[in-house]
Amino acid sequence: MKVVILGIETSCDETGAALLVDGKITADRTTTQLLHEKYGGVVPELASRAHMSLIAPAVNGVFEDSGINVDELDAVAATYGPGLAGALLVGVSYAKGLAQSLNIPFIGINHLEGHLWAGEMAYGELPTPFIALIISGGHTLMIEVNGLGQYRKIGGTHDDAVGELFDKTGRMLGFPFPAGAKLDADSIQYRKTIKAKNFNVNPVHFPRAKIKKDEFGFSFSGLKTAVLYYLQDKYSNSEKTLPNKYEMQYDIPDYERIIISAAIMEAVSDMLITGLEAAWDNRYRSLVVSGGAASSSHLRTEFSNFAKRHDIPIIIPSPELCTDNGSMIAWIAYKHFINDQTSPLSLQVDPSASLFKC
Ligand code: KG4
Ligand code: ZN
Repeated sequence: MKVVILGIETSCDETGAALLVDGKITADRTTTQLLHEKYGGVVPELASRAHMSLIAPAVNGVFEDSGINVDELDAVAATYGPGLAGALLVGVSYAKGLAQSLNIPFIGINHLEGHLWAGEMAYGELPTPFIALIISGGHTLMIEVNGLGQYRKIGGTHDDAVGELFDKTGRMLGFPFPAGAKLDADSIQYRKTIKAKNFNVNPVHFPRAKIKKDEFGFSFSGLKTAVLYYLQDKYSNSEKTLPNKYEMQYDIPDYERIIISAAIMEAVSDMLITGLEAAWDNRYRSLVVSGGAASSSHLRTEFSNFAKRHDIPIIIPSPELCTDNGSMIAWIAYKHFINDQTSPLSLQVDPSASLFKC
């Protein structure tokens, strides 16, 4: 029997819709709301308004792109949490309305579960148990996965998420929001030029937070403060704006900014790899990394080296599938649908939805 699922993602600043036919994505229209760039972060109210105008074109677009008719749908899925309440509400209301009008099931999806299984959509069935590391703008989580719905939290961040750290320190360096990709590009540039050619530069080193051995977590706020103090100390005569202490922007020569960006990336990757090493156990059959910050080429190289050392496969979806998108929602919804797991229309959005059963 042909199974057709529509997946909708509106948890933050990406409006995504995707169609999946028999486990294969046939169309994905995901757009990033660029309007937040000038505010230096996602403005919740503006995000939900933008979702309202973008959602119908995204959904109509995937039907157009794939040649599928709306009455061929078997289920409609949408992210119900975690995320921004107003933003989630747009996707969930749209999905419920469509499901009800077609008299087909609605499936509410936990956004993190979408990230968790995005690798499977790209690489095929994943042997369990595996460790998944989700690193995004809102989350940094290490999870033991034993199967669909069988998740054990190993550890998470005690403060900032990895993407949040990139966005905040990137802003101090003068990058527009979101800053992760720019920091990453600088860091790659550093490896290709300054490091590869052994240029004689004063290296920058930021401290790494140490987490107690049995806690298996991460902490990035100390790094953020270290970057702030470093910039204040070195460039305090060139402060441009002072909207809040983490938004100061300085006149930093390109060459020096590249060195600082690389030092931030090095510190983050060291902390992530140290956390993974601490949690690693020979039972694990692979490492899955996902979430927007997993698009970083620098981090991808370090994770691949970790996997080589442990002689295990590593699964990191393409950057388009690492950042928020409709396809990952359609995929995990498909897994639930074929297991007869659908949601009641009474399911409400939950901005702090958890992946773990208490
Ligand atoms: O998963 P995602 O799209 O949204 C959330 O669920 O939060 O992740 C967004 C985060 C942002 O913080 C952004 O700076 C970061 O992912 N990001 C990157 C790259 N592309 C996006 N970080 C590092 N390197 C990249 N290439
Ligand atoms: Zn996400």
